[in-house]
Amino acid sequence: MALPQSVRIYEVGPRDGLQNEAVAVSTADKLNYIRLLVNAGLMEIEATSFVSPKAIPQLADADALIPLLPDRGRIRDPVLVPNERGKERAVAAGADALAVFTAASDAFTRHNIGMTIDESLAAFKPVLRRASELGWWKRAYVSTAFGCPFTGAVPVSKVVEVSLSLIDLGVDEVCLGDTIGVGVPTRVHELTEACVAWGVTLDKLAYHFHDTRGTALANVVAGLEDGISCFDSSTGGTGGCPYAPGAAGNLATEDLVYLLDGMGIAHGVDLELVLGAARIISVALGRPLTTKVGQAGGWDPVDGARTGV
Ligand code: HMG
Ligand code: MG
Repeated sequence: MALPQSVRIYEVGPRDGLQNEAVAVSTADKLNYIRLLVNAGLMEIEATSFVSPKAIPQLADADALIPLLPDRGRIRDPVLVPNERGKERAVAAGADALAVFTAASDAFTRHNIGMTIDESLAAFKPVLRRASELGWWKRAYVSTAFGCPFTGAVPVSKVVEVSLSLIDLGVDEVCLGDTIGVGVPTRVHELTEACVAWGVTLDKLAYHFHDTRGTALANVVAGLEDGISCFDSSTGGTGGCPYAPGAAGNLATEDLVYLLDGMGIAHGVDLELVLGAARIISVALGRPLTTKVGQAGGWDPVDGARTGV
């Protein structure tokens, strides 16, 4: 089995990580967190969302945050955009990469963005056309690819159908989301195989795992076995969609980095610096760091010492 030699870690902490928190994190604290993520070597950092501030008050400062982001141009910092209004705000703020988001179940898209899947695809069409004209990098999420909090099991065929529609609309990458963390490795293999069989190339496919039931790292290994080379994670293990009952934190970046380091797969991120960023965001949120590697630290195979603690 040939695993990828290197992978992209797509950091979602500042967006997914903070969108569901009871504590309001200030713009200054968000910027500090993002600076630490950049210093740790993360090259793709989903910065914020241009959604309704009534829906997600935690990210209502998106317009102010974007112009202040560090190392613009070198770092890819996509923003979540649900509609034309969000795209206009993103353009005005100076964004240059976006992620649209729909799902493989109508019940979830209705709760999340007030649209059916078909309506969301129609809404994304002009958004993605304009983003292409502007030369932006474009991602699309397919949430509930592993199961829906409202209607349960989701057919693999529906995930493939929505993914193909998004690729037809011109996205650079489709990211399959385990929104509520119900996925297992066999399902990852099924999804990858079906997507590839229908023409989605591996370089256009990414996975986004929530670790609600502790299966996220096992799912990453399954993705690696399939030849997937982009995985989402959140430094500090924060995250969850407020419109997905039962969603818990994202796979923690520190846990993902530890796994990839041990497997000898390159990714460009420094574990100790990620742990520093994880501790800082935990302080800003006023709670202890509960991720596995956040608590145990890394491990030095030369002398057996714990690292980064
Ligand atoms: P709506 O109420 O159905 O739509 O919301 P609307 O067009 O009637 O707009 C209602 C109000 O929002 C209006 O203002 C609009 O102007 C305003 P009002 O007249 O009431 O004062 N509005 C906006 N304001 C700012 N920016 C905008 C915008 N659009 C409308 N872009 C809408 C529809 C999509 C706006 C709303 O449902 C929404 O914002 N939803 C966002 C939900 C969200 O962010 N969820 C979390 C992200 S998805 C996720 O976490 C999953 C993921 O991580 C992958 C995974 O885990 O699977 C990506
Ligand atoms: Mg998510």
